[in-house]
Amino acid sequence: MIDFKLYAEQGAWRDERLLKVITDKLPIGLAYVDPDKIYRFANSRFAAAYGLSPGAIVGMHADDFICTDTMELGDPFFEAAFKGTAVDYVHPVRHQDGRQMVVRTFLRPEISSSGDVLGFFVCSFNVTREKEAEARLLQAQKMDAVGQLASGIAHDFNNLLAVVIGNMAPLREKISDPALLAEYVDPTFHAIEQGVQLTQQLLAVARRQPLHPEPVDAVECVTSFLRLLRRTMRTDISVTTRFGLHLPAIYLDRAQFEVALLNLCLNARDAMPEGGEIVIALAHPSPEMGPGFVRLTLSDTGHGIPAEIRNQIFEPFFTTKASGKGTGLGLSMIWGFVKQSAGRIDLESEVGVGTTFLLDLPVAPHGETRPEAAPDEASRRLHGQGLVLVVDDNHTIRRHIGRDLELAGYTVIEAESGEEAVPLVEALDELCVLVSDVAMPGMSGYDLAETAMNGRPDLRIILMTAGEVCDTGRPACRLPILRKPFPIGDLLKKIESA
Ligand SMILES: Nc1ncnc2c1ncn2[C@@H]1O[C@H](COP(=O)(O)OP(=O)(O)O)[C@@H](O)[C@H]1O
Ligand SMILES: [Mg+2]
Repeated sequence: MIDFKLYAEQGAWRDERLLKVITDKLPIGLAYVDPDKIYRFANSRFAAAYGLSPGAIVGMHADDFICTDTMELGDPFFEAAFKGTAVDYVHPVRHQDGRQMVVRTFLRPEISSSGDVLGFFVCSFNVTREKEAEARLLQAQKMDAVGQLASGIAHDFNNLLAVVIGNMAPLREKISDPALLAEYVDPTFHAIEQGVQLTQQLLAVARRQPLHPEPVDAVECVTSFLRLLRRTMRTDISVTTRFGLHLPAIYLDRAQFEVALLNLCLNARDAMPEGGEIVIALAHPSPEMGPGFVRLTLSDTGHGIPAEIRNQIFEPFFTTKASGKGTGLGLSMIWGFVKQSAGRIDLESEVGVGTTFLLDLPVAPHGETRPEAAPDEASRRLHGQGLVLVVDDNHTIRRHIGRDLELAGYTVIEAESGEEAVPLVEALDELCVLVSDVAMPGMSGYDLAETAMNGRPDLRIILMTAGEVCDTGRPACRLPILRKPFPIGDLLKKIESA
């Protein structure tokens, strides 16, 4: 037991041996610098950061062992400390073994009773982990904010596009002059298609695209995807696979998974202008990650991603590619898709060596098998009969859906709000289908649907959304949902299969 009181009385706290015993136990770097910038004391941790022993540091001038950039950064703070000011600062340090660390340093001057500065204490904490966590949190908050913005824009834009399509489609039918069609109408439809695609991408970024997850055999899915990809890949790029044995089925939206794979492969291709290798592997995750995931890794031998932009590459519209070559939406969509599918995404990259993206994809709930493929109904002409109630607060959308349904043989009535629709549902026994928008002022489509489900369990209900999808467990979330704008054929199919 150390008798601190005795030591203090004898002035022995300056005893170097004792000081060392105590300070070497602390999880911080400690040192003492005299006015000539000579180190008079250092504990083990402080010395270890410079690959030295405390004994070697004592007596050395700071400029002789602290690397120039660190010293240049620290100099003004050292000067302030020599003038008697206590200073705190955070700075990067390259550890002797090459690790980059972030360190918070406190300089505390020792002032004599006559007011002279005798030197100062240096106290350094490794805050690398905290800084990383902070950066990750900031990044997550930024992606959330960007996601909200993206989904807001997509939502309004989809409603506009629905109106444009709804009015353009009948107009096209009425125009028979091929020159007029080619010059004015076809380009308009092409632009609309691009607009629809863009809003879908924004919703993917915002983690709000309607997904249809199903159990997917990842090996089979990647294999058949690669059969298609190989035909379009440059010949100077080889694509190989490594698959683990007995992988469980994963649970995600297969079509969107293929889009993600494609985007990753295209990025890898772009990073290898002189050719190279893509390796796609599927494996059980390592034990420390816990079960419940299949890990997909996609590696390339491309130019790699510099550390400075590593945090930005998942942001929407961030691209390093020439204008017209990149949209900057690929990785942000993948990020949104993986998060929305309850998976995880990470990457490792070394400049000049290559990049590996790691995707942890959730395993399908036990016992589920792939559902039978739905018969292709596209070729069948769809029509129906019966009374349909169309509910949407947007008059134009309501009208063009109603008109299309009438053309398909249905009888249509309309309501512009949930409140207006409820008494109709209750009163009209012959009503067989309810088609409702989700986001409406007042009663939402979900609330309307649930009221209708309770009163009329036999009613077929289809929801429409311009963006938002329900992700809580409420009953209405299980109803079929269409993303606006949609071709009328999709609605007819949904009504038939509901
Ligand atoms: N495999 C890769 N190797 C090197 N850089 C990559 C790779 N994948 C993505 N990147 C970087 O991330 C950026 C964003 O990618 P992405 O979101 O797909 O947009 P885009 O491909 O349109 O630029 C790219 O511009 C590129 O700088
Ligand atoms: Mg891309």
